[in-house]
Parts: sequence; structure tokens; C-alpha cells
Amino acid sequence: MFKVLPGFREFYPEDCAKKNYIFAHWRNTAKSFGFVEFEPPVLEQLDLFTEKSGEEIKSQLFEFVDKGERAVSLRPEMTPSLARMVGARAAGIRRPVKWFAIGENYRYERQQKGRLRAFFQYNADILGENSINADAEIICLLIESLRSFGLTSSEFKLRLGDRNLWVLFLQSAGVDGDRLVSVLSVVDKFEKVSPQALSEMMAEALAGSQVDSEELISKIRAFIALKDVDSMRSAFPEGGELGSKIDERIADWKTLLMLLDNMGVGDFISPDLGIVRGLAYYTGFVFEAFQTVGTGRALAGGGRYDNLVKKLGYQDMPAVGFGMGDVTVSDLLELVGKGGSLDMSPDAYLIIGSEDLRPMALKLAGDLRRAGVKLDYPFKASGYGKQFKQADAVGASYAIILGEDEARKNIVKIKNLKTGSESEAAFEDIPSALK
Ligand code: HAM
Repeated sequence: MFKVLPGFREFYPEDCAKKNYIFAHWRNTAKSFGFVEFEPPVLEQLDLFTEKSGEEIKSQLFEFVDKGERAVSLRPEMTPSLARMVGARAAGIRRPVKWFAIGENYRYERQQKGRLRAFFQYNADILGENSINADAEIICLLIESLRSFGLTSSEFKLRLGDRNLWVLFLQSAGVDGDRLVSVLSVVDKFEKVSPQALSEMMAEALAGSQVDSEELISKIRAFIALKDVDSMRSAFPEGGELGSKIDERIADWKTLLMLLDNMGVGDFISPDLGIVRGLAYYTGFVFEAFQTVGTGRALAGGGRYDNLVKKLGYQDMPAVGFGMGDVTVSDLLELVGKGGSLDMSPDAYLIIGSEDLRPMALKLAGDLRRAGVKLDYPFKASGYGKQFKQADAVGASYAIILGEDEARKNIVKIKNLKTGSESEAAFEDIPSALK
């Protein structure tokens, strides 16, 4: 017996219907914000990810050597490919670039609820715009994409962090150079690992520096505990070069929160410095959306990554974006009963009185389908009772009955299977009779 590989899913029709429901909401919301769809390749040169995505993803790559001896990997995310695609056209591309994509990503993850090895992800990114207006637009799109399912601020929140503020904080605590990135990836783990594991990771990140690792851990804990902008400001000294940098950044925070309030999504935002993001390329505001019911897992994550396009060898191109997974979104919709109705049923089922009527029935079926009616019919013209049962079983709203009497008069009977009411219609009037 062959089994599906761990972490992979097979989609039966009802699963596909759920997935398509989610994709349709993502797609419609992105388009309503003026985003256009793109698609990067599934397989890429390995070093696109080993160099650009960061340590954590490196250990999760589905990598292999292809028959042409190339080191390749299935994509664990789409952002490096997006940066390459936009970078390659940077000279002539209309800015701001507002692109979205929906596709499958692959990460060799440890098995846990909500994390699979193959998952779909919706990405939306703005490139070529460095103002906070772009951060606001992306965060608003993330929230509205979830809201489009009818989800509310009591079901999910967006936690907003800031790598700029962290860099200033860590520099003022004596952390510098490459250690900044290492310490930030430890900060990313604060809520996820035991105190002992944290101490070990921090000691490793600070190896060779003068900074006391336990002291830094308690400073970081206190900093993470600050949940509003004014108290974040008070964690830093006033005046001097650092003071004015902090003032500037706090002003950015206030602008961003004001913009989001005006966009009508203020209720969803919680300032939270515990969010620093695990991927290596983030540079400014970073954010994650979490469900606030059930297990509280991450629905989406993103942030600003102003250096990635340049690091790939193209011109400087600021960028901000997010990725949202289908696994946790679909679990959440199920949990709160907002999965919508599954689009799997035909509008109508054509009931054929006898095999002699099949040629006429097929012609009618063809005309109706071309007119936009979703129509099913039986391959065997069995008794009426059996055909009605089948019409119910496939979930059709209407039965269209073509019996000997109707055929002689070039009409059909139409039965509304929900209400039981019946009427007659000439062939050409059927589509409008079904509305
Ligand atoms: P990420 O935080 O790695 O960011 O993934 C974003 C979302 O994808 C997660 O919040 C989660 O919903 C989903 N996800 C990630 N890994 C898995 C998994 N193994 N199984 C199920 N769902 C998963 C990125 O990927 C960035 N490239 C997002 C981005 C776009 N940043 C800027 N633009």
C-alpha cells in the first residue's frame, strides 16, 4: 500500500472546494487593492534560499541535485524569487510594484499542528516604495484579506514589531556587527523555547563579546513587555544622537498607527516588540497575524525588507510584504464556522424520461451549459424516482424534467428541489427560469 508522504496532503473534491473558497477570497481582496498576480517557479537554484532566507529555513529545504548536476531546491517561500523577478526588470518597471501570488511552498518541518511540509501561501508585496504608506497598505490588505471571510477582531489580531527599534535597543546594550542578527534570531525564539535553551542560544549568539548574556536576556524581557508606543519611547534616553533617532522612529510608529486607524483596521493592531520574524532579510516594521481563539497560531507574517533586491545584485528597491498560509486559515475558519458554503453542486439536474429522448436531452444540455447553467444528467435513463434521488444527492437546486409529453411540446418541467414548486418552460426560457 502506498501512503501520502508525511506533511503532504491529498485534496479530495470537498477539500479542493474549501481551498478554492479561500483562494477566491484572497484573490478578490488583493485585486480590490489594485494588486496584480504573478507566479514564480516552484524549483529554484539552491543558493537563492541558502543565501537569502536565513538559517532556520536552510535546515528545512527540500533540496537535491538534478540530472544536470545543479544544486536545486523546491521553494520554501516566494520572496527571494519575487525579489529576483522584480529586480531583473527594475529599470523599466512601473512603481510601486503591487504583486500577489498564491502557490505551494515546501519546508521539511518537524511534524506539528498547523505546520505541514507542503502548504499553500498567499503573498502580497509592494516594491519600489519606501514610505510608511506602503507598510500601511500591506498591513491593511493582510487584515482585509482575513476579514473578507467574516473574521473579526475578536478572532485574530496583528502583532506589530519593529526591527529598527530592536537594532537601536541592542546597539545601546553593546551588541553590534553580525551579532545583531544572531541576537535578533534568539529574540524571535523568546516565546517559543525553554529558559534554559534561551540562555544557551543567547550565550552562543554573544560568543566573543563583552555583553553579559543573562543581563541582556532580562533587558530584552523588559523591552518585549512594553506594549504601547509611549512606553517604548521611555525605554531609551532622551537627547543625543540615539535620542533623536528614537524620536524619529517613534514618530513613524505614530504615523503608521494613525494611518491604520483611518483605514478602519486599528482594532486589529497590537504593538508588540516580541515580533521580530525569523527570516534574515527583514529590515523595519515586521508583523504577524495570530488567531486569538483556539490555539493562537500564526496566520500570516511579513514586514519590510529593503535590502533584498540589492543583495541579489539588482538596483536598490525598498520592499514590504506578507505571506499567509492556507493551513491555519482553513483550521480557523472551521473552528469559528466561517468556512462558507462549498461550491460543489450543479444548478440543475436534467431528468431524462427514456433512452429515446437522450439525443434531444444532450442537445438541450449542451445549450444550457453554453448559456452558463451548471448542469448534470444521468448516464442511464432509469426510473424518475432514481433520477430525482440522484438530483438530490448531487445537491442540485432544480430538476429539469424532459419526459415524452414535454418533448412532444418542446418544453420542460422545472422543479425547485428546495421548495417543491413546479413550472413549465420553453427550452430557450430555461436559463431565466432557473434564476
Ligand atoms: P513565514 O512567516 O515563513 O513568512 O510564512 C508566512 C505564513 O506562511 C505563516 O504565518 C504560516 O501561516 C504559513 N506557513 C509557513 N510555514 C508553514 C508550514 N510549514 N506549514 C503551514 N503553513 C506555513 C514567509 O514565508 C515570508 N516569505 C513572507 C513574506 C512575504 N515576507 C515578505 N513578503
